[in-house]
Amino acid sequence: MSEYERFLALAQARRSVRHFAERDVSKEDILRVLEAARWAPSNHNRQPWRFVILQDRIRVNRLAEVVRVGITERLKSLPEVAAGYSSEFVQYATFFSGAPVLIAVFHKKPVSFSARLLAGVEHPELVSGEPLSTAMAVQNLLLAAHALGLGTCVMTAPLLAADVLRLELNPPPGHELNCLVAMGYADDKPTAPRRKSVEQITEFSEDGGRVK
Ligand SMILES: Cc1cc2nc3c(=O)[nH]c(=O)nc-3n(C[C@H](O)[C@H](O)[C@H](O)COP(=O)(O)O)c2cc1C
Repeated sequence: MSEYERFLALAQARRSVRHFAERDVSKEDILRVLEAARWAPSNHNRQPWRFVILQDRIRVNRLAEVVRVGITERLKSLPEVAAGYSSEFVQYATFFSGAPVLIAVFHKKPVSFSARLLAGVEHPELVSGEPLSTAMAVQNLLLAAHALGLGTCVMTAPLLAADVLRLELNPPPGHELNCLVAMGYADDKPTAPRRKSVEQITEFSEDGGRVK
């Protein structure tokens, strides 16, 4: 197998895992996935990411409860949205309560000297790049975890309750919550959700738009 084929196989086999075995994850493996994360590219090599590791099940359960209450309250004000899929959505945002490791991922807010440069720019964080850099670090982390036999799921739905989550998580100064990553040994074998083909997602702009 070529290096590309090995990499592709790894990327294709990674799945979002939402059911975890009781088995604990070693600190060594937690440090290994973070080692992979820190080699991601970043804006000006600022490495604007921070990872807070939670392993205390009582605390993780409390976080899930805070998210459940926060999202339920929000959905109450949107009855037309809530009617269809509220319990499913709350489940989507809180299943991390069963994970032995929860990683709260933060990105740094843009540095103040760039504030004037970015003033008036639409979506300034897309230009300054901290959320994207951090997402890249998270992808490294997910793939490294998969290579170690660990299941993960990255989540942003809990951020619907960001106000209360922030109080619980106490972000490092100058940082914003980016996502949560649940991690542990998988207790199920999810099948791969369908992917769009390369043709569906790609255009060669100088080639009449055709991929082939
Ligand atoms: C930015 C982002 C946010 C996500 N948020 C959630 C979430 O809140 N809850 C959840 O269960 N899965 C979440 N997922 C996982 C996606 O549902 C999953 O990646 C997608 O269905 C494809 O499945 P796969 O990861 O197994 O390939 C998220 C994924 C990404 C990239």
